[in-house]
Amino acid sequence: MATVRSPVALLLPLAILLLAGSSPAVAQLEVGYYSKTCPNVEVIVREEIEKIMSVAPSLAGPLLRLHFHDCFVRGCDASVLLNATGSNLAEKDAEPNRSLRGFGSVDKVKAKLEAACPNTVSCADVLTLMARDAVVLAKGPFWPVALGRRDGSVSSATEAADQLPPAYGDIPLLTKIFVSKGLDLKDLVVLSGAHTLGTAHCPSYAGRLYNFSSAYNSDPSLDSEYADKLRMRCKSANDKAMLSEMDPGSYKTFDTGYYRHVAKRRGLFQSDAALLTDATTRDYVQRIATGKFDDVFFKDFSESMIRMGNVGVLTGAQGEIRKKCYIVN
Ligand code: HEM
Repeated sequence: MATVRSPVALLLPLAILLLAGSSPAVAQLEVGYYSKTCPNVEVIVREEIEKIMSVAPSLAGPLLRLHFHDCFVRGCDASVLLNATGSNLAEKDAEPNRSLRGFGSVDKVKAKLEAACPNTVSCADVLTLMARDAVVLAKGPFWPVALGRRDGSVSSATEAADQLPPAYGDIPLLTKIFVSKGLDLKDLVVLSGAHTLGTAHCPSYAGRLYNFSSAYNSDPSLDSEYADKLRMRCKSANDKAMLSEMDPGSYKTFDTGYYRHVAKRRGLFQSDAALLTDATTRDYVQRIATGKFDDVFFKDFSESMIRMGNVGVLTGAQGEIRKKCYIVN
């Protein structure tokens, strides 16, 4: 059984992490940033997302992924939410982002905040809070979110295609991408645990099932029985409609099931399977897969999410507070 720790014992190290940001931009984010200008911001976000998830509980994964895809391209500046303008294709038009969902929910929450406190709360902060609350409502951990991010005005499909980690990534490539965002190998193995939530489209993993290489029809790092099962669902690499749960059986619940699947060579993407090819990430997967360290994973995930939420943020006089998240002011 996982040891139960008091909320204070869990939150203290997180508070220290929030204060310990070394770059000046990070130092300007603050828990309670809107305490004078929009004191109910967290309550409003929470109430709205509770309403949204009560009718669509499967949105937890998409909302968490939106925040990740925002932070990995131009930092957490809500650039992922912007629509294309003129001939400029936006991040959301890039191939890896075409499967993103949840934009309408962000707009709903932002509209409530605009009604309560006009021109005050950034879309980047809304997205960060929604990702945290989505995890909490999916029975995952709570972490304090430092606020004060500002919204960017540039969104480029090419940048998104170049900078988001691909599903076929191996450890050297994934590490390189994470390190370029100021994150490390531990963040990689811990944040990959987000794949406990949500679903994936067949083309994201079909390359592992058909004509994998000249030597193998399917990816030898994928459990062969599981590959047979997946082939029943995903009949061809072009099957764009079929969805598979990444943590089958509990894809709406934030838990450690993902690590048990990966440990059994049943992770859906090559990036998941890659975690078994490096000693550090393999040890972590196998340890959490025992089910005896759920509290360790919850704490690690909270810490890594705080770090990810600090990536490349705009603060102070940088950027703007968008009125509508899909268009610059
Ligand atoms: C390590 C590199 C990563 C790779 C290569 C990767 C790749 C992918 C791919 C290919 C999908 C499926 C898209 C689809 O077919 O619809 C997906 C889904 C998802 N990813 Fe990742 N991911 C990574 C890291 C992360 C991180 C860091 C997070 C969040 C902290 C995250 C959260 C999610 C979630 C929640 C989903 C499910 C979304 C839904 O249900 O619509 N992923 N990821």
